[in-house]
Amino acid sequence: MKIPFLNPVAQSHSLKAELLAAVEQSIMAGQFILGPNVTGLEQEIARYSGTRFGIGVNSGSDALTLALRALEIGPGDEVITTPFTYIAPAESIHQMGARIVFADVDPRTFIMDPAAVARRITPRTRAIIPVHLFGQMAPMAELQALARQHKLAIVEDCAQAIGATQNGQPAGSQGELGCFSFYPTKNLGADGDGGMIVTQDEALSKKLRMLRVHGIERRYHHDLHGFNSRLDDLQAAILRVKLPHLTAWNQRRAALAERYNRGLAGLPLHCPQVAAGNGHVYHVYAILTAKRDALQEHLAQNGIPTLIYYPVPLHLQKVYADLGGKLGYLPVAEELSRTILPLPMYPELTDEQADYVIQIIRGFAF
Ligand SMILES: Cc1ncc(COP(=O)(O)O)c(C=O)c1O
Repeated sequence: MKIPFLNPVAQSHSLKAELLAAVEQSIMAGQFILGPNVTGLEQEIARYSGTRFGIGVNSGSDALTLALRALEIGPGDEVITTPFTYIAPAESIHQMGARIVFADVDPRTFIMDPAAVARRITPRTRAIIPVHLFGQMAPMAELQALARQHKLAIVEDCAQAIGATQNGQPAGSQGELGCFSFYPTKNLGADGDGGMIVTQDEALSKKLRMLRVHGIERRYHHDLHGFNSRLDDLQAAILRVKLPHLTAWNQRRAALAERYNRGLAGLPLHCPQVAAGNGHVYHVYAILTAKRDALQEHLAQNGIPTLIYYPVPLHLQKVYADLGGKLGYLPVAEELSRTILPLPMYPELTDEQADYVIQIIRGFAF
């Protein structure tokens, strides 16, 4: 059997007629930039994430950058984020001219550890960017307590966690701002780049609407240093076809995670842990094993290619050498980068395919 690691085109097949109709409607309507589908999707994502306002932008990376700009983070400020994630949150901090500060993560949930964050707070700290990694929310109550105590803003990186909850509260609704990505392989994926910022704060929402179009409220009158970061009507049209299926897709991911958990029980490896109160949406299902590289090779030889997220923690990336992060500085993130192994995970993965992955792992000489 051959099992793709990711399979975003499976959704294009199952929703083909609706997607093509939506694309036709959008291109014939001719409102390509910030058209009615963008406005509609903004309202729908705001509702889905339990917030009042949605601002469609070009990507999840831009969502983070515009969020920090809206909060007026700049040179001399520090922003705390995680070293065990995609580079986008760190990049957004750097783009503001602020200092990136990494705080280590929890060894079993892989998400931000509030105790590690607390140790990194200084008088210059302005904000925290928790990443809801792999589909599981960071511990927001603890982070909010720190934020209140030290007057910090929280920007939730929800790129991997649309639909995730914590004690019933959706990802994106807990910080000042929440940032989503619609990269094609995300739980809600476009057919290209796309992103959205959500917020409860009307003033911030107005500012973000200006920032995404060169700082204007009125055409050719520029009041803010802005960006060109707009969501295409075409991508919004596609996303609106998919959004009604998202909850069922996330439930299917959770069912597959359960199947993996049951099938892998008793082996000398760690299945992903879910923190109490968290509704996990399994953007990624990753196990931990000391024999990671050999097991990855064994899977590949049996038709199951995998990708490692993340092979190098951010503090050890060449681009951040000037931050002084040495090996041993953030030991949990470093250990995870050596032992983590994501398995195939998408709603269209069949039970038979998941069982085959389990069977191949059980056949490995641990
Ligand atoms: C945690 C995280 N943050 C931000 C991003 C950036 O999103 P985008 O690719 O849409 O720019 C991604 C993924 O792509 C991500 O995984």
